[in-house]
Amino acid sequence: MLQSSGYEALGVDPKAPDDEHYRRVAFEQAELVQDVDAVVASTSLHHVADPAEVLDRIATTLAGGGTLVVVEWAWEEFDEATADWCFQRLGPDEEAGWLHRRRDEWVASGQPWSVYLRDWTQRERLHAADTLVRLLDERFERKHLGQAAYFFPDLAQTSAEDELAAIEAGEIRATRVDYVGGLRQRNRLEGDDLVGPERPVGELFER
Ligand SMILES: C[S@@+](CC[C@H](N)C(=O)[O-])C[C@H]1O[C@@H](n2cnc3c(N)ncnc32)[C@H](O)[C@@H]1O
Repeated sequence: MLQSSGYEALGVDPKAPDDEHYRRVAFEQAELVQDVDAVVASTSLHHVADPAEVLDRIATTLAGGGTLVVVEWAWEEFDEATADWCFQRLGPDEEAGWLHRRRDEWVASGQPWSVYLRDWTQRERLHAADTLVRLLDERFERKHLGQAAYFFPDLAQTSAEDELAAIEAGEIRATRVDYVGGLRQRNRLEGDDLVGPERPVGELFER
């Protein structure tokens, strides 16, 4: 998408397409280009083994005035009402995706949703969005922190507007987190002193 919009861009993902514009490798092992104008991390940081290491690497590849754009998923906000809302909007089982798998595993587990979610995220070693925002704030100057609709691309006949309306009405939680930052002037150790105590991501936004 970035390439077709005229940007010189390189995608890094072990599951990337076999294409000259991608590197099929973990970001931690990728040979980095120096002084890039922007890094986009789209729903990948919660999967990496050590997000602090990845963010440090991002900081070394960005140019001085460069921008980091992060799209994240606050799974810790994925409560039962939100899960029910999603599961009622799933498409046919023949087109099963990750939300179908969550529904089927949850039903098979016989556990309350919160227990299933905790066990699944522990098994997958997913990082919570509040942890990621804290690590980001330690290394980058925050320019934007926002919430948005997340599930709609994986739901049948559901638009971003539908999901946002349900969030606005208090029926479901917002789980997408958008973060934009630039490099801090100070180094990381000095920056640590500037960061407040960790807060759940839900508390970072007004409900
Ligand atoms: C939820 S998918 C998001 C895919 C894509 N970035 C998008 O926004 O549609 C998470 C992706 O993170 C990738 N990923 C996990 N660990 C990674 C790492 N260490 N370096 C690069 N990508 C990683 C996975 O291979 C997977 O493709």
